[in-house]
Amino acid sequence: MPELARQIDTARLVLRPFDDADLDAIVEYRSNPRLWRYLRAEPPAPYGPEHARMFLEIVRGKAWSDQPWYAVILDGRAVGDVDLTVDAANRRGEIGYTLSPRLWGRGLATEAATAIVSEAFATLDLTVVWAETDVHNTASWRVMEKLGMTREGVHRRRYLKHGVPTDWVVYSVLAEEWNERNEEPR
Ligand SMILES: CC(C)(COP(=O)(O)OP(=O)(O)OC[C@H]1O[C@@H](n2cnc3c(N)ncnc32)[C@H](O)[C@@H]1OP(=O)(O)O)[C@@H](O)C(=O)NCCC(=O)NCCS
Repeated sequence: MPELARQIDTARLVLRPFDDADLDAIVEYRSNPRLWRYLRAEPPAPYGPEHARMFLEIVRGKAWSDQPWYAVILDGRAVGDVDLTVDAANRRGEIGYTLSPRLWGRGLATEAATAIVSEAFATLDLTVVWAETDVHNTASWRVMEKLGMTREGVHRRRYLKHGVPTDWVVYSVLAEEWNERNEEPR
C-alpha cells in the first residue's frame, strides 16, 4: 500500500509527523478559541496539556496509510496541522487544515495544503481530493479556491454546532485538473 512521505518540505514550512516534544506548541495553537469557531468539535476550555495529549493520541492512533496527519512546522515549531483522510476503495481523499491564529493571512495554510495535495496525487492513485467547511468559514473555502478546487455545492444543515444546524460547503479538485494546473512550465 503506497503511503505519503513522512516529511514534506515547502518554501517556508516542514510537514512531518507530530511527536511528544510538540506538546507545548500544540497547547499554544489549539488553545486559541478563534481556531474553533467553525470546527465541528467544541473546544475544551481551558485547553491544556491533557487535551494536547488526547489530540496526539488521536493523531497517532491513525494508520499513516489511512490518515497521514502532519504537524506544520514553521521555524522549528509546530504551528498547525494538515491531514488527508484516504478513502482508497473509492480513490478519494479529504483534506483538513488548521493554523495558529497568530499566523493567519500569510498564505501558510495554502502552502501546507498545496504540499499535501501534491504529494497525495503523486503517491496515491486518487481521482479526486475534496474538502468541506462551514459555509461562513470564508478563510477556509478561500484556501480551497486558491488550491484550484471547484465549489460543488452546499450541504444544507449538515452538522449541528452548539445544537444549531449549519450549512457546509463542499469543494473538490480532480487529478487531471490538479496535474494540468500544477504542470511544470516547459
Ligand atoms: C482556514 C485557515 C487554515 C486558513 O489559514 P491561513 O494561513 O490564514 O490561510 P491563507 O493565508 O493561505 O488564505 C486565507 C485566505 O482567506 C482570506 N480570508 C481570511 N479571512 C477572511 C474573511 N473573514 N473574509 C474574506 N476572506 C478572508 C485571506 O485573505 C486569504 O485569501 P487571499 O490570499 O485571497 O487574500 C485558518 O483560518 C484556520 O486555521 N482556521 C481555523 C481552523 C479551520 O477552520 N480549519 C478549516 C476546517 S475545514
